[in-house]
Amino acid sequence: MTSATVPSTSATVRVPAKINLELLVGPRREDGFHSLSTVYHAVSLFDEVTVSYADEWGLEVGGPRAEGVPTDGTNLAARAAQRLAQAGGVDEPVHIRIRKDIPVAGGMAGGSADAAATLVACDHLWGLGMTREELEELAADLGSDVPFLLAGGTAMGSSRGEVLAPVLARGTYHWVLAISEGGLSTPAVYAECDRLRRGRTVTEPRPSPAMMQALRNGDARALGRALTNDLQRASISLMPELGDILEAGLEFGALGGIVSGSGPTVAFLVEGNEAALDLAVSLTASGTVRDVRRATGPAHGAHLVAGPRLD
Ligand code: C5P
Repeated sequence: MTSATVPSTSATVRVPAKINLELLVGPRREDGFHSLSTVYHAVSLFDEVTVSYADEWGLEVGGPRAEGVPTDGTNLAARAAQRLAQAGGVDEPVHIRIRKDIPVAGGMAGGSADAAATLVACDHLWGLGMTREELEELAADLGSDVPFLLAGGTAMGSSRGEVLAPVLARGTYHWVLAISEGGLSTPAVYAECDRLRRGRTVTEPRPSPAMMQALRNGDARALGRALTNDLQRASISLMPELGDILEAGLEFGALGGIVSGSGPTVAFLVEGNEAALDLAVSLTASGTVRDVRRATGPAHGAHLVAGPRLD
């Protein structure tokens, strides 16, 4: 047998975090979700998911940010593997190992990212050869953000976020991510948004021309001005210190700042590497945040990497 025909016993997939450059929230639908118009942007903080053949289903979480991640059947990655096994008619248990570097419950879709990575890894390990469309459909059932984590890059999301369309986006952007103590629950933030808007007419959201133009031109300053998140007021209402963090980052020279998704991570756009380092140092020294990370975007979506990691 040549090495090319030896079946792999494991597959490792790398997957990025996301931020939303624009998150416009429409009315609450009958199914409880809100209609969205969003611009997703994948950034270079990565989780790695390794799936290996095993005697029984199992899941383990390691890496620098493993704390607080559930390891039972409620973990979205475990559900992703089970759903794919069902869809592909597979009866081969796998052990899932997640190497976690994306902040947990931070509004950066870490759980959705692991689910997307698990779909790609299991599809490879089991040799199912699912099409991108088939994986996207399974991904959409798992969560609104999961299809985007398969795709990566910069993309428009509509419906409840799961329907993707390409955007013309030029340039590489530099981000400083301010990570707060504790997480925010996504349903709680949407509920707070509804509460704050009670009595107001909420219309169907449409992408803003200013955002589209900034991305088309690769114009970081214009992008900084165009960053918008309709959930931001709700996140700040539940965690008032986010307002102080936003203010501090803008005072320290960021081109723009935004709560990422439902928060509490705050994403600051800066001019380049040096500005990112300066802002990271200032935010750390200010003592307002637990952790500061630097990242660039866009980043590739869930993709197979050579061999499993051993650490
Ligand atoms: O789709 P996902 O599982 O990520 O959604 C988590 C929760 O966020 C939903 O149960 C819902 O409360 C809220 N949500 C929403 N509208 C969306 C996406 C999420 O209300 N478009």
